[in-house]
Amino acid sequence: MPDLLACKPLDMIRQEAETTDEHSLKRVLGATNLVALGIGAIIGTGIFVLTGSVAAQHAGPGIVLSFILAGIGCAFAGLCYAEFASLIPIAGSAYTYGYATLGEIFAWIIGWDLILEYAFGAATVASGWSANVVQLLARIGITIPPQIIATPGTLLVHYQDLWQPATSVPAGVDLATLPHATAVFNLVAFISIALVTTILVIGIQESATINSVIVFVKVGTVLVFIAVAAIYVFQHFSQATANWKPFIPPNKGTFGEFGWSGILRGSGKIFFAYIGFDAVSTAAQEARNPQKDMPVGILGSLTICTLLYIVTAWLLTGVVSYTRLNVGAPIALGMAETGVRWGEFLVLIGTIMGLSTVMLVMLLGQSRVFFSMSRDGLLWKWAGAIHPRFRTPWISSIIVGVFVAILPALFPINVLNDLTSIGTLLAFVIVCAGVWVLRVRRPELHRPFKTPLVPLVPILGIVVSLGLMAGLPGEAWLRLLVWLIIGMVIYMTYGRKNSRVQQYLASDRKAAD
Ligand code: ALA
Repeated sequence: MPDLLACKPLDMIRQEAETTDEHSLKRVLGATNLVALGIGAIIGTGIFVLTGSVAAQHAGPGIVLSFILAGIGCAFAGLCYAEFASLIPIAGSAYTYGYATLGEIFAWIIGWDLILEYAFGAATVASGWSANVVQLLARIGITIPPQIIATPGTLLVHYQDLWQPATSVPAGVDLATLPHATAVFNLVAFISIALVTTILVIGIQESATINSVIVFVKVGTVLVFIAVAAIYVFQHFSQATANWKPFIPPNKGTFGEFGWSGILRGSGKIFFAYIGFDAVSTAAQEARNPQKDMPVGILGSLTICTLLYIVTAWLLTGVVSYTRLNVGAPIALGMAETGVRWGEFLVLIGTIMGLSTVMLVMLLGQSRVFFSMSRDGLLWKWAGAIHPRFRTPWISSIIVGVFVAILPALFPINVLNDLTSIGTLLAFVIVCAGVWVLRVRRPELHRPFKTPLVPLVPILGIVVSLGLMAGLPGEAWLRLLVWLIIGMVIYMTYGRKNSRVQQYLASDRKAAD
């Protein structure tokens, strides 16, 4: 009878990490690449899209506090990830950490759960990407047939020279007077994932290079906005101060609508903006010096993004009153408000490129988790096959790519978004618990990076993550449960019987008898 709580021996993990042959991943990434990888995954839909609705519906200018709160929560988890990533520098992220500390069944749960973060996360971003591409093309006079720009059944109307969901048209406009169509399949989102998958199959070095270039453009877009908005605020200081007052608009009588509860709800929603820093840890086996560089990659990217988010949100709410921010492209609106005419165009291009790297890093993470699970015998062999020339897990990248491409083509963004957040938060809980467990069980291990104040920091990480999970709707919990049950069936029928760790431990026991 296999031991469901069998832990993968750390020596076995280390040995695998040190192997370099034609079946292994290439070690090419340095600290700068890893920070860029993190920023590539983090800055995306959160800042470019969600900032507007969170400020307008929940937090007002206090969205700055929502960003700080969510950032602090992520920092606890980030510190735990950093300890693990330096201690167990192997592709697979939280999955591998769970395997080393809590046992196989937990490892399976976390690996299966990470699909929600990476695959569904990439799908969520693909939905946002398609909306931005459709808007940019419309601005330059190219109209894509509405039937292929949204999920099946979405009612679209042609308003202000743009095909858009009927729900985004301001109240008061008579929908019946507008041309309308029903969407059949979001082909634009499908194509975005297909393109990103192609890049991933070609190679990690190419993916990292493309990512670094785009991160430059994306961070550049945010910095240009910050510079333009700062000059505007400086020149129109009394207008900005009026927009910031009251900084925390009074609660409207319902939990989550402004006031302190609005700040809390806002931080739950804006949490999506931080997802991705942990994706750095999936590339540990491709890092040149993972012990030193993984913590830099994780914590460096998280710190940079937190600072950029706080400043951006603060300036945005100074330039535009929060009451006007419930739009799909709030940063573009802020730019337009400053009178800089090329602003909207620049922000749209920055957003599209930015979202591309989020998809890239998330899909990279996903295929690496599959790779690790397959190498451990918990998933079928094909998932770990490495392309002889490109040295990438190409079959798993392609299969994941097809699966992920179908998701945003068929399912609405809010369903994908909530599943991504709940899956990510569950991963955070297990990683924080894992750091604590390993400190108790194996205190003697050399940890190149140590999470400070254990167990306080892991406990705070668990509490904050559970708190954010509690704020998500009941359907997200139900979907998470169904997803975990499907995973359990696969584990019981395949993984448990083919686990390499079980075989390794069994042969160890035989040798001892
Ligand atoms: N943090 C990523 C984004 O905001 C997932 O798009």
